[in-house]
Amino acid sequence: MSFPADFLDELRSRIRISEVVGRKLKLIKRGREFLALCPFHNDSKPSLSVVDEKNFYHCFACGAHGDIVKFTMETEGLNFIESIDKLADLAGLEVPKQDPMERAKEIHRRTLREVLEEVTIYFEEFLRKASNKAGLDYLKERGLSDKTIKSFRLGLAPANSKTFRIDMEERGIQEKLLEEAGLIKKSAGSSSTYDYFRGRLIFPISDRRGQIIGFGGRALNNQEPKYLNSPETSLFHKGHILYQGEMAREVAHKTGQLIVVEGYMDVISLAEAGISNAVAPLGTALTEGQIRELWKSSTEPIICFDGDSAGVRAAVRAADRLLPILEPGFSARFSSLPPGEDPDDIVKRGGANKFMELVEKSIGLSEFFWETEKSIGSLDTPEKQAAFFKRIRNRVGEIRNQNVREAYKDLVESKIVNFRVSMRMDNNGTGGLYQSNLRSNGYKPIRSSISNRAARANITQTMERRQKQAILAAFLMHPSLVEDFGEALGYLELGDPFLDKLRLDILDIHADEESLSSHYLKKRLFERGYTNNFEGVLEDKALAHIAFAGPGVAIQKAKDGVRELLSRIGKYQLEEQIALATNAVMDDLNEVNWNRLSSLRAALVSVNGGSNLEDPV
Ligand code: UTP
Ligand code: MN
Repeated sequence: MSFPADFLDELRSRIRISEVVGRKLKLIKRGREFLALCPFHNDSKPSLSVVDEKNFYHCFACGAHGDIVKFTMETEGLNFIESIDKLADLAGLEVPKQDPMERAKEIHRRTLREVLEEVTIYFEEFLRKASNKAGLDYLKERGLSDKTIKSFRLGLAPANSKTFRIDMEERGIQEKLLEEAGLIKKSAGSSSTYDYFRGRLIFPISDRRGQIIGFGGRALNNQEPKYLNSPETSLFHKGHILYQGEMAREVAHKTGQLIVVEGYMDVISLAEAGISNAVAPLGTALTEGQIRELWKSSTEPIICFDGDSAGVRAAVRAADRLLPILEPGFSARFSSLPPGEDPDDIVKRGGANKFMELVEKSIGLSEFFWETEKSIGSLDTPEKQAAFFKRIRNRVGEIRNQNVREAYKDLVESKIVNFRVSMRMDNNGTGGLYQSNLRSNGYKPIRSSISNRAARANITQTMERRQKQAILAAFLMHPSLVEDFGEALGYLELGDPFLDKLRLDILDIHADEESLSSHYLKKRLFERGYTNNFEGVLEDKALAHIAFAGPGVAIQKAKDGVRELLSRIGKYQLEEQIALATNAVMDDLNEVNWNRLSSLRAALVSVNGGSNLEDPV
């Protein structure tokens, strides 16, 4: 039994080889490839190379070699059909039925391909006929060389409604096939047909193998719509194809860089300027299938949509699609183009260099997404700020891959802390909320310079460290705080080797000794090698800023202060760990797992000030 070639292609395009191998073996990333201990011989060092771009594995020691299907067969003891079933399941694809009808369709598809190739040649030739000068003139006027026109196989469809049909008949191509290829269409409410691309410039669209599967057609005059694309056919599935995906892949492979633009003309115009690693979706929003296709050539494709509001919206939609399917190491970057300009305009006016400058300035998805969420509304009241924090945390929750989600959480929480600090400073400073509000709407504050911003980031970092130091200072001054917050302190990573060691030492000493005095705790710490002011934790200057950590402060005030800081810095860490611990309990309800979950919950309750019901996730 055989499967249609298109189905196997589809399967291979949906699943990366590293995904399949990674389910069985531990993968080590090495540049563009992964290495693993080869399962097909007794391997002492990782000799199995797994390359997503080529979608195969190869063992340099024993020569084992194959694709996702072969790997599944050989490691799972499944036969071909069973392996396909399993992989199709993984990819969420329906395995096609292999009845005679399907076979016939497959043969048919091949002939459809043949028709499309023949029609492409026809359109190319038609463009070059002396009587059709307008088409070629238009392309030349838009700056395309003969070489580019040929390599993109641009063409022209006859404007006269009879010509196309007559010429096709002459070539022996039946109307029925033309209809299935999406080249002619039935008129609404009548049995007559009309040719779909009449009078349009033709942009052939090919599949991964470089075979033509459909067309884009641009109006030569101001006719609407400006572009028409082939309708969906048995070969042409817009959601999985990228314009020039085939050609860009090779260049992207060499440079590691892949650019995604909006328009066909952008792709072509960039190529004319020497930038041939650009692709475009087919006039629709970027789909999940297309993103996975992009990831095969580049781990961080650069999305470079038009600088108008439609382009910005399309970029935001692309980010929305990306977020849930992010995987470790796979993301995207975003370039912003000047208002009203597309890549075509930019290379025309400023050349390839100008465009590449903008590409170099692209920002990562995490930053793009933060800025986008921030710009949704004004942030001039605490309520609006809180709504922004809530929104962005919810969005992070959309990321399905746990490792990526955790990394995003860390980033977002630290950005939130920085944001709060900068809000507070704006309030005290001359600019105040008014200025920060303008900035969130995309205006550059008049007095903000690079050095100003760098200083602000520095101050933010220092403030964050002060807060962490303040927590420990409070415990050093009031060791009894461990009774209330010991659990939280135990789970809270401060992300600083010295502070984390001090944190664990405080808990350790407390575990040995009931009701410690501050004096005694410090003495025991000195015995462990700490110096007088604990690297600044107990410096007078630092303590002066932390009202609740001073020696004379009432215990209740210290408690409130510590609770506030712990919740600010550590709450999300706790929530994340609770989620993990809950999973562990659901997997295996044993005493260890249960105790861990209980004490994490207790820790969260302590920092929430007695209730763990706030902010349900
Ligand atoms: P643009 O209008 O930006 O097209 O649409 P462009 O490629 O830059 O073309 P020029 O420079 O004006 O000639 C971007 C893409 O959106 C799709 C096409 O895929 C186009 O390349 N589109 C646009 C449509 O499908 N239909 C339309 O009517 C317009
Ligand atoms: Mn455009």
